[in-house]
Amino acid sequence: MPDASDTPQGPRHIAIIMDGNGRWATMRGRPRLFGHHAGAKRVREVVEACPDLGVEYLTIFAFSTENWKRTQVEVAGLMSLFRRYISKETRALKERNVKVRFIGDRVRLDAKLIALMDELEALTADCTGTNLTIALNYGGRDEVARATRRLAQDVAAGKLDPDTVDEETLPRYLDTHVLPDPDLVIRTSGEARISNFLLWQSAYAEYEFVDTLWPDFTGEELTRLVNRFGKRDRRFGAVKP
Ligand code: FPP
Repeated sequence: MPDASDTPQGPRHIAIIMDGNGRWATMRGRPRLFGHHAGAKRVREVVEACPDLGVEYLTIFAFSTENWKRTQVEVAGLMSLFRRYISKETRALKERNVKVRFIGDRVRLDAKLIALMDELEALTADCTGTNLTIALNYGGRDEVARATRRLAQDVAAGKLDPDTVDEETLPRYLDTHVLPDPDLVIRTSGEARISNFLLWQSAYAEYEFVDTLWPDFTGEELTRLVNRFGKRDRRFGAVKP
């Protein structure tokens, strides 16, 4: 458990719910996918802003376990966008020393997309710069359920003593097991909810809900939010001496 005395000034890990692509496109009389394409361009700008801001980990919510409920056209368009994004950005990410990971349940994703995800993870595995985690078919409850299933399997197999299970145990089974908890969670587009994102991990995160629609979000706005984070008084449930 972190404590206030060792909190660094800036957020080490930022997680972003990139919301508002659909509205951004609709306002322009364009199909929703136009907004998703515009949103994908912003990802690069935000990733590039991280090193100067001292942000070591950036986690972005690209597709939730609930997003399958959208029209077939939108879902297929998003899947195609993810494939294109990965193919197109791989070289630039590697050159910028960005280590990419994916979290979420891969079972519903198509084989071609999974192969591209595996390849990008493998190609950037040795990178030592920004850690970019892309949440794809990710849901916090689904992640906890999958983690619990694996934990229960280990108990059943005699590999884990149930009496030793505490709040340090479950995170070892989560998709995020190699990541620190997010310090700052940002949601764009004026909605003030967390929509099943990093439920366990965000227990002590600071939140920023900004009105900007994701395709209009810039590195400058990120800088402003990081600076504001530095002024917050994080106590993690304790009282400062
Ligand atoms: C939410 O906006 C956005 C999504 C469900 C998709 C997010 C995807 C991207 C930004 C594309 C690029 C990502 C990567 C990793 C290449 P919304 O459609 O819910 O907007 P609305 O609330 O205005 O309808």
